[in-house]
Amino acid sequence: MSYKKIIESGLRAAQDNMCGQDKIWSRYSHDKVDVGEVLAKVIRTLSSVFPLNLKLRALSIGSSDEPQFRILETAFRGGLYLLDINNCALNVVKERIKRQRTDHVITIEGDYNKIFLNAKSREDFFKEKLNSSEVHLVTLHHSLYYCLARDWLNIFDNLYSKFLAHKAAMHAVLMSSKSTSQSSTTWLYNHFAGKFFGVHDDQDLRAFKKKLQKQPAFKKAQVELRTNRIYFDVDDFKKFMAVVWMILLYPNVHKYSLKQREEITEFIYKKFYKTRHPLIQEQDHLVVYKGIKSKGLI
Ligand SMILES: C[S@@+](CC[C@H](N)C(=O)[O-])C[C@H]1O[C@@H](n2cnc3c(N)ncnc32)[C@H](O)[C@@H]1O
Repeated sequence: MSYKKIIESGLRAAQDNMCGQDKIWSRYSHDKVDVGEVLAKVIRTLSSVFPLNLKLRALSIGSSDEPQFRILETAFRGGLYLLDINNCALNVVKERIKRQRTDHVITIEGDYNKIFLNAKSREDFFKEKLNSSEVHLVTLHHSLYYCLARDWLNIFDNLYSKFLAHKAAMHAVLMSSKSTSQSSTTWLYNHFAGKFFGVHDDQDLRAFKKKLQKQPAFKKAQVELRTNRIYFDVDDFKKFMAVVWMILLYPNVHKYSLKQREEITEFIYKKFYKTRHPLIQEQDHLVVYKGIKSKGLI
């Protein structure tokens, strides 16, 4: 294919929908393997403190069609609640629940900001959706992007004190907001969003960990963080660019002009695709253990 045609295919990928872009990311990166690995450690820690016959319960916030479904569904037989704003993603799970008779899995369509940042909605959600029963695990896998960083503490506070059982955990995963690698998704976002819109990534889970540790409400909690590096590469430039547009938040947040999109596409082609250089993502895992005395795994 000529250079012109390749660049055109990369530009066309900007029109793909986010669901499809996310599927490409899941397939050609090892993000889900990384999330699954830490999740398994959290579940292992939780399992060690409860009687074997207790059926555990979990809430996944921004679950999408729940890539960790097979892990969560088997471990949380007392109820697995999947909350997402996107009905499309939840319909995929609904079909699976019916087909595979996993009726301990419940889908809930809703906006987590509206639910957890408002006292009345929070109480209604707890009563009506969770049957007034606390959960042993809350996951926020790549979903805190959709909440202002200044609201995180409020959300964590509410989840910790009102939704978590007396022994429980929370697991959040997010792209690191700082990275020294010029091949990273963080660098790409900060470079182009900074150059064209004067903004940078302020969703810093590492700083948030320190903030949480200083809160009286979390004094007895174990608050742990680790950063893992994952790779993305695919032998199809259109697919490569589909993921780049998702990372650069085009078009929902930043509407790069055609000229800017051309500059980005040519940059990615030269820096990554032509030299078979994978895109790196540094991602932070934050785990909060509540009421667990032994050192929890992360
Ligand atoms: C990047 S995906 C992550 C999906 C999945 N947790 C994972 O780890 O692959 C983010 C998900 O959060 C959902 N989401 C975005 N804003 C939301 C909100 N305000 N309330 C609930 N879900 C939201 C999106 O619909 C999407 O399914």
